[in-house]
Amino acid sequence: MKAGRFKLASAADILAGRSEFLVEVKGWVARKHTVGGLVFVIIRDGSGYLQASAKKGVADAAFDAAKGVTMESAVTIRGEVREDRRAPGGKEVSVKEFEVVSQAETWPITRTAAKAASFLFDKRHLSIRGPKAIATMKIRAEVIGAAFDYFRENGFHLISAPTFVQAAVEGGSTLFSVDYFGKKANLSQSAQFYEEAALPALQKVWIFQPAFRAEKSKTAKHLTEFWMIEAEQAFADQSVNMRVQEELLSKMVERVLERRQGELKTLGRNLKQPELPFQRVTYDEARATAEKSGFGFEWGEDLPTEAERAISLTQESPFFITDYPLSARAFYHMTYSDRPKVTKSADLIAPEGFGELATGGQRIHDYKELMDRIAAQDLPSESFSWYLELRKFGMPPHSGFGIGVERSTRWIAGLKHIRSASLFPRTLSRISP
Ligand code: 4AD
Ligand code: MG
Repeated sequence: MKAGRFKLASAADILAGRSEFLVEVKGWVARKHTVGGLVFVIIRDGSGYLQASAKKGVADAAFDAAKGVTMESAVTIRGEVREDRRAPGGKEVSVKEFEVVSQAETWPITRTAAKAASFLFDKRHLSIRGPKAIATMKIRAEVIGAAFDYFRENGFHLISAPTFVQAAVEGGSTLFSVDYFGKKANLSQSAQFYEEAALPALQKVWIFQPAFRAEKSKTAKHLTEFWMIEAEQAFADQSVNMRVQEELLSKMVERVLERRQGELKTLGRNLKQPELPFQRVTYDEARATAEKSGFGFEWGEDLPTEAERAISLTQESPFFITDYPLSARAFYHMTYSDRPKVTKSADLIAPEGFGELATGGQRIHDYKELMDRIAAQDLPSESFSWYLELRKFGMPPHSGFGIGVERSTRWIAGLKHIRSASLFPRTLSRISP
């Protein structure tokens, strides 16, 4: 039979009935079993999974090749699409030609070995072929795609910012420093200051890029390198800022519900569309809730992890915790004129114990006020010289936020640990593969 008669098709197209009768499929052997004179091979091709069967006596060469193929070998098959109620997806390809393009060695990820999470992450370059990792990556891509659409539809301009920086946006304790031709540079913790600089040029901006934190904490929600979506808006106060965040997160959920039902099922995730607007809970109220749950903390402290978890567990939908004390926030936060110790800021918190997804707030736009704040916190004003100078050249009230891509994916996909939301996670103990 001539290969030219077969039309290249994806598993998804075949299962959806969008292919020709004679198809060619290129993919990898995900599973295989033999029943007498019949070999069933489940082929994974990125679009989905497809059953192929090769029958002895009908296509002997194909049968022998399929029988001998190992797990995770790369293959090209050619055959006829047939309805088969027993096949996953209701269709299978009856194989006429089975070509082993690259035969794999014995697959190291056995069922027993897979029980150890550390082994799976040591072998992450291989284990990402598993159905859960694939489902997670597809969900993550929808989360990011929804952000691109949301910001375009709402007039935000996409910008980029450097990764090598000097200023500490979120404090010195989590900075990664690198040698920059004999001078010290840091890896960016957040692109916020660059967004602020772009406001007079573009008014509404957003950014999508990696952020780096030398987090010493070994938790289920910290990476040392992660992707952040940040947005900043001029002539916008904190209430406008929170609206953008809740609309953005809603759109992410909506997109995943619309397009990734199968992946949610693979992950066993029961995701619901949250209602707008999200609930607003003040820091003081949240603190009282934490205290009732036995996780009390001092006024002025940032929410300890267990307290945040306890508060998050009381909610079924994402919500904001507003009005954080200045002592728990970075220096640039604006405070209320009648409450100088309380900032116009909020964290967006995911329910079910997942915790913080985003932090945002209104920034100080007045030069003198920002100078005074920097002095009051004993920060080196020379490190912030250009950031300060922006306040001399037309800085209106403005606000913005940053939302973590892996944190959002983790909640939406219902993942136990944030590292599963990253293809190649970077944590305190891991920089390979
Ligand atoms: O709360 P963060 O530190 O806020 C900022 O960086 C602001 N400058 C953003 C802004 O206003 N433009 O970080 C923002 C978000 C967090 O809410 C969290 O989702 C994520 O970034 N994030 C992390 N994700 C994974 N691992 C870490 N170590 C993270 N640190 C922050
Ligand atoms: Mg935060």
